[in-house]
Amino acid sequence: MNWKILEQRSYTPYSNTPKACIVVGKSGNYYPGVRIENISFPLTIPAIQAACCFCLADGDTPESVLLKDENYLEQLDFWVKEFDLKKEVVTNIENIQFGDAAISLESSQVKNRLIELLNEAITIHSDFPVSALLMTPSGYVSGVNIEVSDWTFGLCAERLAIAKTISYGIESLESMSLHTLKGEFSSPCGACRQVIHEHLPDNEINFFHADGTLSVHYTSDLLPLSFSSTSLTK
Ligand code: THU
Repeated sequence: MNWKILEQRSYTPYSNTPKACIVVGKSGNYYPGVRIENISFPLTIPAIQAACCFCLADGDTPESVLLKDENYLEQLDFWVKEFDLKKEVVTNIENIQFGDAAISLESSQVKNRLIELLNEAITIHSDFPVSALLMTPSGYVSGVNIEVSDWTFGLCAERLAIAKTISYGIESLESMSLHTLKGEFSSPCGACRQVIHEHLPDNEINFFHADGTLSVHYTSDLLPLSFSSTSLTK
């Protein structure tokens, strides 16, 4: 890997300021994170939040963060404090390899995998696990919700799956499935709808409900009359 290639995976059509970092877990595994902007400012996913959440969703604990230089990385201070991360500026990342983001699954296995994934969610505040699988040409990319000491820095399952797909360099996002353990009806929150709209604007989305039933929808129905303008992209 090299920083240029990793940074180029960023999705920054609005400000054209790509950012990337790599989190090293206690297991020794490496997790790449890139900046993923959203047309709605606060829904932008910072590189460090993405990388730490991939590490946590894997059952690993963030131990250090590798940076290209000392340049400002949003949310860095929070995550460094949260996990007592070592910060290391590393220019050469040639020998660093990442695990596979996608797994191969038959579509008939999606529901069971979503149920298994619910155990990987970190829900210290809500006790409300959510799992997601994003279908891509390389296979399915998983996501679970991750909560940390500060509620506002958590990430939903759907957004984690989208951020992981992009950070691992998979460019085509095909459909999304999600599962909840509790609640009457599984359905993405407003923030996820906005992010889903940006990356999966007209795709199938399957809601597996806690009672074992499924409803199939289209992402285009989740955010009617949404805000967009091609004049905003650089
Ligand atoms: N959550 C998701 O993961 N996805 C959604 O679309 C709805 C909400 C998570 C966030 C938080 O960890 C918990 O569910 C309760 O809001």
